[in-house]
Amino acid sequence: MKKTPTPSLATRAIHGKKLFAYQGPLAPPIYQTSTYRFASSDDAIRYAQGDPTVYVYTRYHNPTVHDVEEKIAFMEGGGAAVLFASGMAAISTALLSLSKAGDEIISTPGLYGGTYRWFRDELPRQHITVRYIDPNRPEEIESFVTSSTSLVYLETPTNPTLDLVDIRAVVRHTRRAEKKLGRKLPVVIDNTFASIINQDPFALGVDVIVESATKYLGGHSDIMSGVVIGSSEYIKRVRQVAKYLGGCADPFAAFLLGRSLKTFELRVRRQNENALALATALSRHKKIQRVIYPGLRSHPKHELAKKQMSGFGGMVTIEVKPVKTKTPVDAAVAVCDHLKVAVNAMSLGGVESLVSIPVYSSHIFMSDDELQRHGVTKGMIRISVGVEGIDDLIADFEQALKYA
Ligand SMILES: Cc1ncc(COP(=O)(O)O)c(C=O)c1O
Repeated sequence: MKKTPTPSLATRAIHGKKLFAYQGPLAPPIYQTSTYRFASSDDAIRYAQGDPTVYVYTRYHNPTVHDVEEKIAFMEGGGAAVLFASGMAAISTALLSLSKAGDEIISTPGLYGGTYRWFRDELPRQHITVRYIDPNRPEEIESFVTSSTSLVYLETPTNPTLDLVDIRAVVRHTRRAEKKLGRKLPVVIDNTFASIINQDPFALGVDVIVESATKYLGGHSDIMSGVVIGSSEYIKRVRQVAKYLGGCADPFAAFLLGRSLKTFELRVRRQNENALALATALSRHKKIQRVIYPGLRSHPKHELAKKQMSGFGGMVTIEVKPVKTKTPVDAAVAVCDHLKVAVNAMSLGGVESLVSIPVYSSHIFMSDDELQRHGVTKGMIRISVGVEGIDDLIADFEQALKYA
């Protein structure tokens, strides 16, 4: 029999597996319920005996949530997926499913601030430590690995500095370390910034993808959600831990996420286009000191971006040129306060362009030393480029920059 070719990402994001011989409502029903009425106690008995088709409680499983999980797993090329109430619920559950007291996580240092602070402030209380490699020396993984290492964690592009980590190299050195260790070491990536459209971690050898679905997957700044994608065996374990930690997805949020996925490809492609155009325009502006965007030739890792990314993403970070009359952070504040199209708000990935100042948002509660290690400067403005008309966006930044 002829094998059915895998449909394109856009098609998978719209139809999921229902492309093939599916009959029923085109939009899935929202099972807004916490529990399920049994036909008789036979159902409860079947569940207790391990029958996975019996629904019992929404913290364990829900058909609306499951529908979206299946779609995302198919989209991203993983065996299975679990949806969560937020990206942080996804990240914490994914990592705690793989680690126990006494373990060590090896990580790259450029992380989302929430993840970094969780690593710094909370994991040590559970006797789990995180050791950071130099992101430009992934070979360090081999010398960092000990019998206590539970996993290797990375984020690329990094938030908000848009630095890149060589994913293939991280995987290669982890596999070498595994040989010495004599057991599997999962490589986990936070793929939130790029999203599957711009970066395909499984194709590069990564084992687990975690993602804040609040961002590009959700895309409309109206839901909180997170997802973990990996092998069916690993996801079984994540589901078990998720039951106890309790960060389950709400059915209505899952419905909205499933709806958003239908335009995922359209949105992200337009965000990529707008980001490149805005980054190019800003890099020529006399009041701008630096524009960081992986798609610009001036980006120090542009060649790596071309190798491991299929699109350069919708995130652009800028620094305003220093002036005598203002501190760098005051200049950043002045620009953000005068934007009229782009919105001064935290978060990213939505159709609306958003700006934020990392030292007042993702990177608060960090010392000057920590900021320096993360490459974050006080005058940085992080732009999540939306899908507005590009001329409106460029004009908006031009008028706001007059106040820098
Ligand atoms: C890269 C990255 N990962 C994870 C998260 C956490 O996601 P959430 O806010 O949905 O918990 C964020 C949030 O900004 C993020 O930027």
